[in-house]
Amino acid sequence: MIQLDHKNILADLVGNANGITSGEIQRSEARARRALTAFRKRSEDGSVGFPHLPFQAEVINQIQQYAAEMRGSYDTVCVVGIGGSALGAWALDCGIRGPHPVQGAFTAEHPRLVILDNVDPSFTQSALDSMDPRKTLVVVIAKSGGTAETVSTFLIVREWIKNGRGRIAAVTTDGKGDLFELASREKYRPFWIPENVGGRFSVLSPVGLVPAALIGIDLRKLARGAMAMTHRCWQPDLDENIALRAALCHWLLWTRKAKSIQVAFPYSNHLWGTAFWFRQLWAESLGKAADRAGKTVHTGQTPVAALGTTDQHSQVQLYIEGPNDKVFTFWAVGRFAAAGKIPRERLGLEAFDALGGQSLAKLIDAERRATAAAMLEAGRPNCTFTLDRVDEEHLGAFLQMMEFQTAFMGELLGIDAFDQPGVELAKKLTYGLMGRKGFEKYRRQFDAYERKRTRAR
Ligand code: PA5
Repeated sequence: MIQLDHKNILADLVGNANGITSGEIQRSEARARRALTAFRKRSEDGSVGFPHLPFQAEVINQIQQYAAEMRGSYDTVCVVGIGGSALGAWALDCGIRGPHPVQGAFTAEHPRLVILDNVDPSFTQSALDSMDPRKTLVVVIAKSGGTAETVSTFLIVREWIKNGRGRIAAVTTDGKGDLFELASREKYRPFWIPENVGGRFSVLSPVGLVPAALIGIDLRKLARGAMAMTHRCWQPDLDENIALRAALCHWLLWTRKAKSIQVAFPYSNHLWGTAFWFRQLWAESLGKAADRAGKTVHTGQTPVAALGTTDQHSQVQLYIEGPNDKVFTFWAVGRFAAAGKIPRERLGLEAFDALGGQSLAKLIDAERRATAAAMLEAGRPNCTFTLDRVDEEHLGAFLQMMEFQTAFMGELLGIDAFDQPGVELAKKLTYGLMGRKGFEKYRRQFDAYERKRTRAR
């Protein structure tokens, strides 16, 4: 269903300075298996919950039932959430229904998904102006229940929807946090995020599944794909376990060849949302100052999202001739929903006549393979995931595989992939600046930075 071709990272193909020998890969396989065992322990003792999500049939049924009850009463689903509480819904919508500009007319049968993540006031106002409060179903999502962006936008949306309170669902932590309190008080339809599932690993929890079901995505098929992939990701055989194989390749390229940037390069507009979801997953999980033993490491590979073929005309010049500090992961699609047949013409014009009678599917595939070959020529390591198709089963499997890959990479690096201490200070300083009670000391800390800036020459 999903394959990984990692041959183009081999030293034989990209040279010793940039590639890994098959001997090195073989010698590291035992280390990869230890990473698998360590992560399996975290999954079994319940400290990390995402591997279990696709198996929670009861939760999936409840969400499908809720979506069935509500169907027909709205033409827009408005998600209020940010980070891991927003990107999964976007990846699923874009993956299954395509990017917004090509989604077709929005109706009660084919509702629009609007995601209010950023607190850009003009964006928020334009979004509200584009929706009808009587036909909008709001889903507010926050695991902590108190994220500044989500809370403030939700207050605006709550007032905007006024009498439509029956059409608010809240996805948060059971029994904890201010959103839980408000949802209980105002009787929003609640859905719970398991404590052991972090935001960026939550796409297959109610965080991603509630919006997905409301826009008509088949959750059972998503879960079926993710379950099959979960079984694969527990296999010690690296030919079977593509998440472990991919994590090992990236670990070797980062730690031995200093490939500090990974470009996720989908050749499919449907996978563009997933590329942004992956960017958060890889960055926030792996970018860490200290390892599990407390040693300063400042590790992490920077994820970049590029779209094929579009970014061949934007980024690839840099990728082929600029600093050789990257590894490229192409995401290919075996069979597109449409072939894009190009009419056969005999215009006597070579550029047109050469391509007439062929298909866009063949062209996008040729362009990806040609770009990979050009990268080899320039000594740029790359690998390719191929999804047979982009449908619920394949997308569910791909998302789950990426989460496993990230968890394995965390184990290989010896860091905690499930926390995010680096984002805390800015959050607290923001609360200080916004005058939140209990955060006065951060206001003072911010003022001290300002004084320092004034003195700096
Ligand atoms: O992955 C994470 O943990 C974060 O990106 C969170 O998803 C993000 O900060 C939003 O958090 P919350 O759901 O509490 O609003």
